[in-house]
Amino acid sequence: MSEIDSLKSQLESLQAEALAAFAGAADLSGLQALRVQYLGKKGALTEVLKGVGKLAPADRPVIGKFVNQTKQALAAALDAAEAELAIKAKAARIESERIDVTLSGRKAGRGALHPVQQGLDELTAIFSQMGFAVAEGPEIEDEFHNFDALNIPPEHPARAMHDTFFLKDIQGDDGEPMLLRTHTSPVQIRAMKHFLAEGGEPPLAVVAPGRVYRCDYDVTHSPMFHQVEVFKVGRDVSLAHLKGVLQHFLSAYFEKDVAIRLRPHYFPFTEPSAEVDIGCVFCAGKGCRICKGSGWIEVLGSGMIHPNVLKSVGIDADEFSGFAFGLGVERMVMLKKGIPDLRLFFENDVRFLSRMGVMK
Ligand code: DAH
Repeated sequence: MSEIDSLKSQLESLQAEALAAFAGAADLSGLQALRVQYLGKKGALTEVLKGVGKLAPADRPVIGKFVNQTKQALAAALDAAEAELAIKAKAARIESERIDVTLSGRKAGRGALHPVQQGLDELTAIFSQMGFAVAEGPEIEDEFHNFDALNIPPEHPARAMHDTFFLKDIQGDDGEPMLLRTHTSPVQIRAMKHFLAEGGEPPLAVVAPGRVYRCDYDVTHSPMFHQVEVFKVGRDVSLAHLKGVLQHFLSAYFEKDVAIRLRPHYFPFTEPSAEVDIGCVFCAGKGCRICKGSGWIEVLGSGMIHPNVLKSVGIDADEFSGFAFGLGVERMVMLKKGIPDLRLFFENDVRFLSRMGVMK
């Protein structure tokens, strides 16, 4: 074979080999390595060109043209392969990042009102609809409002019964001891004083929902719980008004006609005083485990506001009278919803809360 034919066939097989290699390149960096291998300064084509020197001068342009063609063919094939790999890489990336836009989204959990909050709202709303004004008082109280003004003097045994949390490091404006209020009854005093200071004249009817504290913890007692205090002061306010309001409110709250019973009792801030029972909502008065067979369940304390309480805020007890009652919210909610254990309210188990809570 002549020198020139041998070079030509070398170039042909080089081209065939290179094209096959380009086609088989797995990625862009592999292709780049092949570009160097075939077209680089020390590449295969350069190697073949070294043979050109041995040719007769007349043959050199012929083979030169052939070399150029091969070079162009390889360069073009490389560019094409590169473009193809770039498209493939892009497609692979799109595939790997694919998201299914038709999938349904994650649900954002919807909150519910805590059953105690719901009870507070319901109870307050019933009285609000009857024309009682809503009032709130401070949870940190002084002895005057929590006890003295409510006719519970310092030596009174009722003070001991209240299991009061006294605050060691806080004192009132006049240096008096401060405490966490043990009931919402002090709001009676604050609301009456405020009303009078604003130039008001009885009648005055107030509902006061709020948090109260007692140093007590067992199945039926929590150190923090909620009460609603209700009272009305005016001319000729009588026990009949108290009974009528109780009858209406208890039936509205339990959403049925409940029987009520007033049992004589003692509270320092009312005279006469009564505990109020309702016909058992679980057995309709027949007698069951919950009402301990009596058919009655105690729900609240009530009475006619003691003259000393009215006097403590400067209301003339000969001219005005009033009724008052106070109830425990947790207890009312337990009775309405059949919740057996007070502690469920405070354990924050979402299974309980989402079952009992009302979506708003
Ligand atoms: N303050 C009382 C308590 O927490 C409840 C109470 C009883 C309130 C009788 C009243 C009432 O207004 O008349 O035990």
